[in-house]
Amino acid sequence: MLTDDAVTLRAHTADDVEPAYRMCQDPVMQEWTTIPVPYLREHAVGYLTEVIPAGWRENTSWAWAISYAGKYVGTIDLRDGVGGVGEVGFAVSPEVRGQGVMTRALRLVVRYAFDTLGWSRVIWRAYVGNYASRRVAWKVGFRGLVTVPGGGVSRGVRKDEWVATVGRDDVLEPQGNWWAVPVLENNGIRLRAMRETDAQRVMEACNDERTQRWLSGMPSPYTLDDAAWFIASRPHAAAGGEAVTWAVADATSDELLGNVSVFELSDRIDKTKGEIGYWMHPEARGRKVMTTAVELVIGHAFRPIEDGGLGRRRLVVKCADVNTASAHVAEINGFTLVGTERRADPRRDGSYDNLLTYDLLADER
Ligand SMILES: CC(C)(COP(=O)(O)OP(=O)(O)OC[C@H]1O[C@@H](n2cnc3c(N)ncnc32)[C@H](O)[C@@H]1OP(=O)(O)O)[C@@H](O)C(=O)NCCC(=O)NCCS
Repeated sequence: MLTDDAVTLRAHTADDVEPAYRMCQDPVMQEWTTIPVPYLREHAVGYLTEVIPAGWRENTSWAWAISYAGKYVGTIDLRDGVGGVGEVGFAVSPEVRGQGVMTRALRLVVRYAFDTLGWSRVIWRAYVGNYASRRVAWKVGFRGLVTVPGGGVSRGVRKDEWVATVGRDDVLEPQGNWWAVPVLENNGIRLRAMRETDAQRVMEACNDERTQRWLSGMPSPYTLDDAAWFIASRPHAAAGGEAVTWAVADATSDELLGNVSVFELSDRIDKTKGEIGYWMHPEARGRKVMTTAVELVIGHAFRPIEDGGLGRRRLVVKCADVNTASAHVAEINGFTLVGTERRADPRRDGSYDNLLTYDLLADER
């Protein structure tokens, strides 16, 4: 039995079969775990009364019932352990999600793996997109997250997988920032998280001739799939502490007008810098929309982390010297031109433009 002041981990009993069976009917549970579908009562009976006790007996897996407010709410297990390294798996019933139950349970079990089983490392694995599970692992100090294409199997189908680990000497606390994407508004402009439904507008904006000219790394032609991939990649970048990306939207219609990001946020040495990048849908250009959007981003980026901001000290904007519209957005927002890299900005025809660097320091505001 393992316990903190809110969660108790104990052996499963026959009374847990019914709530475990019910938990496994949850579509979220079925999507993110390897449980059989359809999930029958006999599956719960077999797992709780045969598989789990056998694991403890044979020293091959260690599963606990999670008890919260006196009730069975889920299961967490350790498995393998060969060479002092093993995996953790967990699930909690929908009624109690988001209350910190799994974070507590995971911390107890990781400590057990190190202190009692003598493991040196615990591995966490989840299918790509399971942000609730990723957040629990992040909160307990799992680190070094990588994506393994096709690394997981779900009922015979290969899926991309995230893997992260925590070692015996690591602190069980978050490593790096998991950025939020707050809604910011001014002058009829709203910055908000990107949505799947923005894909058509993203595709239009990124196929535009000027966007294609100045952002030469973009796919060409830029398809709806490219837009969907870009939108889906944004939560990953925010969770990994690398970038925060907003849709620049009309505050009345909420339609996407453009896109603005702060990136380069996870530099290992300088943790206080950031680069701002942007593009506008051609229909919305020339109305000072990006000027307003960048102003909002600057305010958020310079706000201290403890006040919900990004805690930046220095921001940069980079653009080709011949891209006057982009340079104008930087200048009007108070950025200073600090340098020109000669022939550093590649164009698609094989030529290069000079690249301007503008910067803005927090204490200049
Ligand atoms: C993953 C799971 C176990 C989390 O349990 P839980 O008790 O809700 O976890 P916690 O409350 O300790 O933490 C969940 C965190 O994820 C956050 N979260 C939930 N959904 C999220 C999402 N889509 N994007 C980002 N964060 C999300 C919650 O806000 C919470 O973070 P916070 O406390 O900082 O606000 C639960 O969602 C579950 O059982 N899912 C189905 C089974 C499963 O996926 N198991 C893991 C397989 S790898």
